[in-house]
Amino acid sequence: MIRTVLVMAAVAIGVSAVVAQTDPIAQRKDMMKQTNKYAKAVNAMVRGEAPFTSETVAAAYATWDKTASEYGKLFPENSKTGGKTRAKAAIWEKRKDFDAKLAAFGKAVADGKPKAGTLDGLKASWAAIGKACDNCHEPYRMPKK
Ligand code: HEC
Repeated sequence: MIRTVLVMAAVAIGVSAVVAQTDPIAQRKDMMKQTNKYAKAVNAMVRGEAPFTSETVAAAYATWDKTASEYGKLFPENSKTGGKTRAKAAIWEKRKDFDAKLAAFGKAVADGKPKAGTLDGLKASWAAIGKACDNCHEPYRMPKK
């Protein structure tokens, strides 16, 4: 009996993991939440509201790097609407430009990473990255409802 319950629980977990993987809207929202979590952490360091912590900085750049390389895959044709998405239709209409904005973000992360070992370096690096976030959100993300 206990065994059956455990097996059923395992199946349920397996199923929800598959659903998450095949739901690009949920996945891209989640990826942006992670991206934002580290943006907030780095922003707090840059403003002197939190101590400079190299582990957090490293985790931030690793997360942003992953976003830069994987985010573009999460916009298939069938994900234009639904799931409370804030993605604008312009993403699919101007796909090349959207990809360019993502590439620019990736470049800011790659260029900024070697500078981010000190607080002064992090400030300059973060300024460029933050700008790349805004440059994409402005044309491609709907305002919060
Ligand atoms: C290449 C474009 C692009 C870049 C670069 C980008 N974003 Fe986004 N972001 C989007 C889009 C599009 C959405 C809306 C996705 C959706 O709702 O389906 C979004 C959504 C978000 C959200 C809302 C997530 C939620 O709860 O649904 C946050 C927060 C966010 N981005 C933060 C950031 C931060 C911080 C950066 C930079 C460090 C960044 N983004 C860089 C395109 C981008």
